Amino acid sequence: MNRFPLIISFLACGMLCASTRNCTLEVLNQALARLEASDEANSMIPLRPDRAKQLLTAIYQNPALAYAIAESAGFPNNMERLFQVYSRYFDALMPSVDGYLEILKDACEKLPLEGRILDLGGFTGILSAVCLQYPEGNQRKMVVVDRAPGPLALAAKKLSSISNADRFQTHVAKLEDGIDMHGQAYYAPGFTGATLVNVAYLLDDSQLHSVLGHIAAHMDKNGVLFFVDPDKKTFDDPTTKLNHAHNVYESALFNGARLTKESPMVVGAINATLGNRGHHAREQSEIITLFGKYGLHPKEQKKTYYGAANQILFGF
Ligand SMILES: C[S@@+](CC[C@H](N)C(=O)[O-])C[C@H]1O[C@@H](n2cnc3c(N)ncnc32)[C@H](O)[C@@H]1O
Repeated sequence: MNRFPLIISFLACGMLCASTRNCTLEVLNQALARLEASDEANSMIPLRPDRAKQLLTAIYQNPALAYAIAESAGFPNNMERLFQVYSRYFDALMPSVDGYLEILKDACEKLPLEGRILDLGGFTGILSAVCLQYPEGNQRKMVVVDRAPGPLALAAKKLSSISNADRFQTHVAKLEDGIDMHGQAYYAPGFTGATLVNVAYLLDDSQLHSVLGHIAAHMDKNGVLFFVDPDKKTFDDPTTKLNHAHNVYESALFNGARLTKESPMVVGAINATLGNRGHHAREQSEIITLFGKYGLHPKEQKKTYYGAANQILFGF
């Protein structure tokens, strides 16, 4: 079901907007004019950077609007179900975002060139797809694990279109369990590397401890864990959050992503409300202490993703 008419009618509701604190009516009215002019037939009109910025600013500055859009678009206020339906927007956006591409490039360069690499919380498989191909000639076998079956099916499709079936596996599983839905233990029989990119902030301490326990038990002693996670301050600071969103869209549009008005509205709305959806973003120092308990120590670290996230390469 196409829910965008619902969003449009929500935006059209001047009374609701006027009664909501911090609502930038001027911006929303402009957005509304454009939305009303568009219909199903022209909904693929590419987004202009300035329009993306206006929409995002309106959404981020108005929590009520962000929630309403996310809900109208069919995104449940529940992380587990949210990622089931988010994949289409994610795939349309992320491969064009400079900050994200830099993370992928670093992952490809830092991870071992052979052996099993666990892509934990691998979602739609973008990272694994890139790691199979770059650097050229690598012998990695990517093992994508995620609890969301829909995005994982998309990952399998993506990976099978670029590589042989013996170069990848997908497992529907909770990372903390270590056993997939068919009873297969995917951390065993050992692996040379793992990624945890934008996932740990969705795991509470007990889940994260389990994941680290599995990694400590099964990763090669020379193996590395490539870790990226939003910094707690970004989640807690509305200005940083909005700047980050602007950077993401600006670079995607600059790089030629054919985004439409849907993308900033939906992704913006999700991210704008993410901080209130029970996240577990942590400070870098907290991460390092926690991982240290499992013998994992930082080899390299930097701020990434326009400064919004911590990237740490861990090894034993
Ligand atoms: C933001 S996405 C990360 C996407 C991907 N790693 C990337 O950045 O390219 C977070 C993913 O973690 C998954 N996830 C969250 N908690 C999980 C858990 N306990 N077990 C398995 N997957 C989980 C979600 O289903 C979602 O696909």
